[in-house]
Amino acid sequence: MRVLLTGGAGFIGSHTAVALLERGHEVIVLDDFSNSSREPIRRVEELCGKQVTLHIADLTNAASTQKVFASESIDAVIHFAGLKSVGESVRDPLLYYRTNLMSTMVLLETMALAKVKKLVFSSSATVYGVAKDVPVSESSEVSYRLSNPYGQTKAMIEQIIRDAVVADSALQIAVLRYFNPVGAHTSGRIGEDPKQTPNNLLPFVSQVAVGLRDFVSVFGGGYDTPDGTGVRDYIHVMDLAEGHLAALAHLKSGVSTYNLGSGIGSSVLDVINTFSRVANRAIPYEVVAAREGDVSCSYADVTKATRELGWSTHRTLEDACRDAWRWQSGNPHGYASQASPRGVLAVSS
Ligand code: UFG
Repeated sequence: MRVLLTGGAGFIGSHTAVALLERGHEVIVLDDFSNSSREPIRRVEELCGKQVTLHIADLTNAASTQKVFASESIDAVIHFAGLKSVGESVRDPLLYYRTNLMSTMVLLETMALAKVKKLVFSSSATVYGVAKDVPVSESSEVSYRLSNPYGQTKAMIEQIIRDAVVADSALQIAVLRYFNPVGAHTSGRIGEDPKQTPNNLLPFVSQVAVGLRDFVSVFGGGYDTPDGTGVRDYIHVMDLAEGHLAALAHLKSGVSTYNLGSGIGSSVLDVINTFSRVANRAIPYEVVAAREGDVSCSYADVTKATRELGWSTHRTLEDACRDAWRWQSGNPHGYASQASPRGVLAVSS
């Protein structure tokens, strides 16, 4: 299959590119590098010994997106592209609504023109909002009263997709609700590379472990969980990547929605302790006030993905921490760790 990955240079996109290439698919990446660079693509090619076709284009621009579709024959699209910082979305909601909604609408319109009917969309467990029972199943109600515009864009895009398939019954779409993607490819050559101070737990812990930051702030110690800290479902990014391949292979008419998670809840302290063990170093932390908008506990009911896609995770939190550590210790400053053209070690913020 020739698969177009929007946002294919990002964290999940680059790992999915590896999984696709390893299974003999062809990969076309459309990315504007607004939060990434050419380097992960170069490393994906090096890891797989295969070429990726790269289009540097802005998905919110209909003309440039149509140009990409006109120049390629595309069997299916995986739509990763989008802004994803919860905090930034609260500060600049219009940027999030414009970028995430516009890019998806341009993509759907362009796919219609090009008669491409297969789509896999990166959604998030954030669409379940705060009121929920765990484990969370796909039949839980989607909340349209989310605490941040980022999450709101995911819920709105899901709705746009549901409406689009009503109008075009030939569309085959899988909506994948990710829980908490972590880890890195086991080679340590590609991984998560946040441009700013990481919002998410795992990259923050990795940066403390490698000495870039002093300690982890644990957001809240008084939750109703076994150790009082927040519980989440951490999924290894390569398991997640393989979930996309399973979703592609099982696409059927209409929209099918799947939780992609491990089904296991781990606390913030579980993550810090596991990372500390595999990296063999102390990870200082301080328990501070809970973060606004956080839920105490969220993990996936993965029955549907297991039954319908024949997919489930087989990597553990320990595997994820070990792979994240291999990536972080080998690339302390992410993709900017290599020597710059002036021969000086480039340092990202
Ligand atoms: N946490 C800390 N300290 C940190 C960062 C996080 O204690 O520095 C805690 C959080 O309070 C939470 C857990 O670690 O209990 C995980 O937090 P993340 O920010 O890594 O992940 P979230 O579950 O809050 O958010 C993730 C994605 C969002 C997505 C959301 C819901 O980052 O994009 O899941 O699915 F919207």
